Amino acid sequence: MSKVQIKVMDNGSLRVSGDFEVIDAEGNVFPTKEVVSLCRCGKSARKPYCDGSHRGVFESVERAVPAEEQ
Ligand code: FES
Repeated sequence: MSKVQIKVMDNGSLRVSGDFEVIDAEGNVFPTKEVVSLCRCGKSARKPYCDGSHRGVFESVERAVPAEEQ
């Protein structure tokens, strides 16, 4: 089983890769690929996936703080 990685994209989606499932609140499984981009701006017409609608309207640049600095 490959480790799941979630990458917080600058001004955009959450890119998920690895061995994972995307499920709704009732436990139903969405169709997925090996790598998907989850919308975090709320503008996508294809939620929970990103459709590119964030471009130019969503700004969020997040950086992880190394554990030794927390
Ligand atoms: S993050 Fe891309 S459409 Fe929302």
